[in-house]
Amino acid sequence: MEVRKGTYTSRGLRLAWREAGAGLPVLLLHGFPLSGAMWDPQLEALAGSFRVIVPDLSGFGASQGDPPDTACRMSDLAADAVALLDHLEVGRAVIGGLSMGGYAALALAEGAPERLRGLVLADTRAGADTEAARQSRLDAARRVLAEGTEFLVAALTPKILGRTTRERRPEVVARVERMIREAPPAGVAAAQRGMAERPDRARVLPRLDVPVLILVGEEDELTPPEESRAMEREIRGGELVTIPEAGHLASLERPEAFTEALGSFLRRLRS
Ligand code: MLT
Repeated sequence: MEVRKGTYTSRGLRLAWREAGAGLPVLLLHGFPLSGAMWDPQLEALAGSFRVIVPDLSGFGASQGDPPDTACRMSDLAADAVALLDHLEVGRAVIGGLSMGGYAALALAEGAPERLRGLVLADTRAGADTEAARQSRLDAARRVLAEGTEFLVAALTPKILGRTTRERRPEVVARVERMIREAPPAGVAAAQRGMAERPDRARVLPRLDVPVLILVGEEDELTPPEESRAMEREIRGGELVTIPEAGHLASLERPEAFTEALGSFLRRLRS
C-alpha cells in the first residue's frame, strides 16, 4: 500500500494528512487525545477499494496546534477538514469521525452539508456536555499544561477501552497508552476547551440527507450504545451497527468488525 502524505494550511496552522487508495473519498477524523494513526487498521484494510484520507487534527500527531490558552472548537476542526478537502481537490466525501472526530463531523454536516457524500458517526454523541463534564474538562486542560499527559493515561484508559480489551488485549492497551503519552499537552488542553464549548447538535440529525452509518462498541461507557440509539431515532434511514466486545475505541479494539461494517456501508454508497 502506497501512503501519500503532506501538509496544508488552515486557520494559519500547518496541518498534516495522509492518504492511500483511490475511488470514493472517505475522510476519517480521529478521537481525543489520539492522532490519525488511530485509523491505521482502516487505512490499510480499505485503501484497496476507496480513497482513505486521514488527517492529524489540530494539536495532535504531526499537526501544529491552536495557540496556547485558546479553545479548538469542533467548528474549527470542521473548517480544517473542509480546507483539507479543498487542498486535495475533493468535492464531496464520506466524512467519518470517532468520538471527538464525530463531534467535528457533525459540525461539518451542519456548516458544510454540500461536502457530504455520507456520514459515519462512531462512538460519539450529538448532545453537549453537562456543566459538571464541562468543568472537569477545564480542570483537565489546566492540569495537563502543568503536569503533562501522564495522569491522563490512568484517567482515560479505563473509560475509553472496553472491559474485554482491558482484560484480554494487552497490545491494544499498550498502543493506546503510548498514543495518550505522546499527545502534546497544548493540543490536549485546546481540544478539551473546544469540546467543553461545543453546542448541542441534535438539531442537525433530522436534517441530514445523506446515508448515515452509526457505529458503537457494545461496551462503550463514555458514549454508551443508548446515545447511538438516540441518534438513530432522529436520523431518517440511519443505520446502527453495534460492535461486540468493544468499548469506546471500537475501531482499534475490534478493527476487523469495525472495518467490515464501514466497508460494507461504503460499498453500498459506491454502487
Ligand atoms: C474521544 O474519544 O474523542 C473523547 O472521549 C471525547 C470526549 O472526551 O468527549
